[in-house]
Amino acid sequence: MDKLRITGNGPLHGEVRISGAKNAALPCLTACIMSPEAVTLTNLPRVRDIHTMIRVLEELGAAVELDGERVIIDAAELKSHTATYDLVKTMRASILVLGPLLARFGKARVSLPGGCAIGARPVNLHLEALEKMGAKITIEHGYIDARVDRLQGAEITFANVTVTGTENIMMAAALARGTTILHNAAREPEVIDLAEMLNGMGAKISGQGTDTIVIEGVDTLHGHTHPIIPDRIETGTYVCAAAVTRGDVRITHTRPEYLKRFLDVMRAAGLPFEVDADCIHVKPHNGLKAQDIQTQPHPGFPTDMQAQFMAVMTQAEGASAITESIFENRFMHVSELNRMGADITVKGRTAITKGVTPMSGAQVMATDLRASASLVVAALVAKGDTIIDRIYHLDRGYCDLEKKLEGIGALVERIR
Ligand code: UD1
Repeated sequence: MDKLRITGNGPLHGEVRISGAKNAALPCLTACIMSPEAVTLTNLPRVRDIHTMIRVLEELGAAVELDGERVIIDAAELKSHTATYDLVKTMRASILVLGPLLARFGKARVSLPGGCAIGARPVNLHLEALEKMGAKITIEHGYIDARVDRLQGAEITFANVTVTGTENIMMAAALARGTTILHNAAREPEVIDLAEMLNGMGAKISGQGTDTIVIEGVDTLHGHTHPIIPDRIETGTYVCAAAVTRGDVRITHTRPEYLKRFLDVMRAAGLPFEVDADCIHVKPHNGLKAQDIQTQPHPGFPTDMQAQFMAVMTQAEGASAITESIFENRFMHVSELNRMGADITVKGRTAITKGVTPMSGAQVMATDLRASASLVVAALVAKGDTIIDRIYHLDRGYCDLEKKLEGIGALVERIR
């Protein structure tokens, strides 16, 4: 299994180009099978999760032509309506085929995703909404089996804000009979991107980006070419990498507006930076001050930035209280950061980080994608070598991580 060796070597400097958003590309890929005509996606990030989703679509019988950051998906005919356990267990987002399959073919069989490292993560809200739209759902042998003649528009209020739930039901409703109204919908930029792609394919969706989305069902969707939006979490991770090393880094091909709350907190912490429409230029600083945050659905502080932010707070003066309100078990990076010299204590859903603590390289590993990213951030400021194990987590979501870090002066090596 590959490992990453990072040797802390002072301030990062230079330019890093952000890739397409993994979490936008995943639902956009499954939306491709909603049309009998070929659909093209561009700015696709070259990461493991995208390859997994492509395998899910190929298993259904879609023809896939992948060329770097561009993919053409032709789902004129599918041979199967099943997403098998073998693939779903490696990536929960496979559940995103449920809405599209049911909407276009009236049947879908998807393995239940089960738990994951950061919590139980059920899909009950996806299923309840589809049932409200007329689907008959049974769960047997670990599979969700859903059937319907044609989905009916419905008024649906999500009990919790759910990102993939909103996306699944938005896709299902796009081909339903009549109008669907989603209340308490997720407002993430990735939801907006998917709505815009579907509208480009002929769907009638409005209200994306607010908590009420209205979808007027249409009979069929057509071919289209859609560019994936930039990855805001990759962007934020490089902001943290620059901040923790007191670097001078230009982060390009991004959209700072997607990270407003995170950037406001970094500004309050004392990080100097300039933004324009598609770039963030992080400047060197003379010390950061601790900040308290609480993760929230967008436009709040993203849970996917919590771990990397905590690594930065180990280098900020004072005590920072970080409260995780989305997932019940998302502090697995704490013990590894402490092994590197951090002073972090967890009480319930809040972690208190006391800084500034000098960090020292160690052998570490993490159990999920963003926890692994926080170890990378910490390693960049640690004295000596840090060996990060299980980097397949990083490969799931960070495109060309070591190349991009090297490009801004970090000492990084993949050990095979
Ligand atoms: C998505 C993102 C993930 C991010 C998360 C929260 C993708 C592929 N993944 O995950 O990176 O961390 O949003 O921003 O886009 N819940 C239920 N029942 C459901 C669905 C969700 O109780 O049916 C709960 C979850 O357990 C969790 C909360 O709602 O506590 C939010 O989860 P959700 O927004 O659905 O996360 P994902 O869409 O899986």
